[in-house]
Amino acid sequence: MTPSTNKVAIVTGASRGIGAAIARRLASDGLSVVVNYAGSAGAAADLVADIEKAGGRAMTFQADVSDPEAVTRLFDAAEAAYGGVDVLVNNAGIMKLAPLAQVDDAAFDQTIAINLKGTFNGLREAANRLRDGGRIVNLSTSVIGLYQPGYGVYAASKAAVEALTHILAKELGARGVTVNAVAPGPVATELFFEGKDEATLDRIRQMNPLGRLGDVGDIASVVSLLVGPNAGWINGQIVRANGGVV
Ligand SMILES: NC(=O)c1ccc[n+]([C@@H]2O[C@H](COP(=O)([O-])OP(=O)(O)OC[C@H]3O[C@@H](n4cnc5c(N)ncnc54)[C@H](OP(=O)(O)O)[C@@H]3O)[C@@H](O)[C@H]2O)c1
Repeated sequence: MTPSTNKVAIVTGASRGIGAAIARRLASDGLSVVVNYAGSAGAAADLVADIEKAGGRAMTFQADVSDPEAVTRLFDAAEAAYGGVDVLVNNAGIMKLAPLAQVDDAAFDQTIAINLKGTFNGLREAANRLRDGGRIVNLSTSVIGLYQPGYGVYAASKAAVEALTHILAKELGARGVTVNAVAPGPVATELFFEGKDEATLDRIRQMNPLGRLGDVGDIASVVSLLVGPNAGWINGQIVRANGGVV
C-alpha cells in the first residue's frame, strides 16, 4: 500500500507508550514510519503489523539511541527503505525517580546517556540528513515547570533537551526545518505508573484541572500538528501538553 504523502518519519522509542501512539498517528496521517526500539522487538513488530493492516507503511529498526553509531544506522535504514527522512521524533526516554541524595552514579549516567545524549545523537544526525522543510520534535516533560522532589536528574536531562531545541531551531531555520518540543504532563504509560501506588495516582489526577491523566493520544495529536502542514510557523517552541497542571 502506498502512503498518502511522500514524507518519512523516524520515531525513537516507538515500541510502546507515547512513541507507539505517535508512530500510529503519523502513519495514519500518511507518513512512512520507522518504529525504533531498544529491546521490545515483538511489540515493535506487532505495531508495524497493525499499521500495515490499517493501510499505512512502517518498518521496525533496533537501535539504542545512546549509541551514536546505532543512530547513524537508524537513519541509513530509513533512507535505504524510503529514500530520505523528513521527520525525527526524539521520544525514547527513561525516568528513574529518587531524591538527589540517593541517586547513584549508574542511574545518573543512564538517564543522561538515553535522554540527553540519545536526543543529541538523533538531532545531530537529523541536522545533517533531514530533507529541507523537515520537522523535528523532542519529548521534554512538564515536570520542568513543577519542580517536584525526586525528579531532579530526569528534569535536568529534559531541561538540556529544551535548550538544544531552542538552539537547533535557530541553526536549521534557513532550510525550513522546524525544531520544537512537546512537554507532556502525566501520561498513562509504563514509565509513569512505575513505582506509584493508587493513592499517589489519585492525587496526581486531582492535581490536574481536567481531573485525569493524559492519554498517549493526547500527545500524539500534538506531535501530528507540529510535523504537519499547518505548523510551518511554529518553531523553537516548547508545547506543554498537560491538561493545564502548570
Ligand atoms: N509518560 C509520561 O507521563 C511522560 C511525561 C512527560 C514526558 N514523557 C516522555 O515521553 C517519552 C516517552 O515516554 P513513555 O511514557 O511512553 O515511556 P515508556 O512507556 O517507558 O516507553 C519508552 C520507550 O522508549 C524506548 N527506549 C528506552 N530506552 C531506549 C533506548 N536506549 N534506545 C531506544 N529506545 C529506547 C522503549 O523501547 P524498548 O521497550 O524497546 O526498551 C520504549 O519504546 C519519554 O521521553 C518520556 O520522558 C513521558
